[in-house]
Amino acid sequence: MNVIHCAASHRTSAMASKKMIYPAADRNKEPILSVLQRYIRRVPDQSLLEISSGSGQHVAHFAPHFPQVTFYPSEIENHLLESIAAHTYGLMNVAQPMLIDITTDYRTWSARFKENSLDYIYNANMIHISPFKCTEGLFRNAGQLLKNNGILFTYGPYAINGVLTPESNVRFDQNLKSQNPEWGVRDLEDIKKLALNNGIQLKQMIDMPANNKTLIWQKVGY
Ligand SMILES: C[S@@+](CC[C@H](N)C(=O)[O-])C[C@H]1O[C@@H](n2cnc3c(N)ncnc32)[C@H](O)[C@@H]1O
Repeated sequence: MNVIHCAASHRTSAMASKKMIYPAADRNKEPILSVLQRYIRRVPDQSLLEISSGSGQHVAHFAPHFPQVTFYPSEIENHLLESIAAHTYGLMNVAQPMLIDITTDYRTWSARFKENSLDYIYNANMIHISPFKCTEGLFRNAGQLLKNNGILFTYGPYAINGVLTPESNVRFDQNLKSQNPEWGVRDLEDIKKLALNNGIQLKQMIDMPANNKTLIWQKVGY
């Protein structure tokens, strides 16, 4: 092995050690990708902001399928930025991961984000594993950042009209609330009201494996 190969292999193994692996993300990334493929258009120069990218497994799996889209991963947890960067290393259409707290106003994040500028926002598994103010921040910022007709994808479990099924989701909800009383599976009706207050409508609800759903929300403007 020459010096260049040695340096490259050292860098590759250093990157690999920073990659966090969430088993759930490995299981759900392919079904979610198949939904995104139905909604992400084939026109050039589009943009997708991911809120709460976690390990970075989702964005790393999706980005190669959409070369017409620039992906902007983000996290509130500083330590996860390294994992996201390691997973997305070498992917030309993925920007450096950014530190974003979704409860804050987008104008404090980066000059890159302007009103009515994004085609898509994607958020998986945050709504139920964070205080409700994060969901409020997600819809408030999405209402401002998305272009008209832009799409917000959310993925996770939801209660419908106050009813959460099946029993495994009820136990999951109890478990979340025991970890943090501000967490818990949200009712779709509450999120729909929040969305409408921000000029966003529920366009479609897609059943996913393991009793999850992907919700397709569209900005309709005021
Ligand atoms: C269960 S993880 C989901 C990670 C990833 N999206 C996935 O599906 O594998 C929930 C994520 O929400 C993030 N989160 C919690 N509060 C947040 C906030 N205020 N702003 C942005 N992200 C937040 C956490 O850091 C965590 O990575």
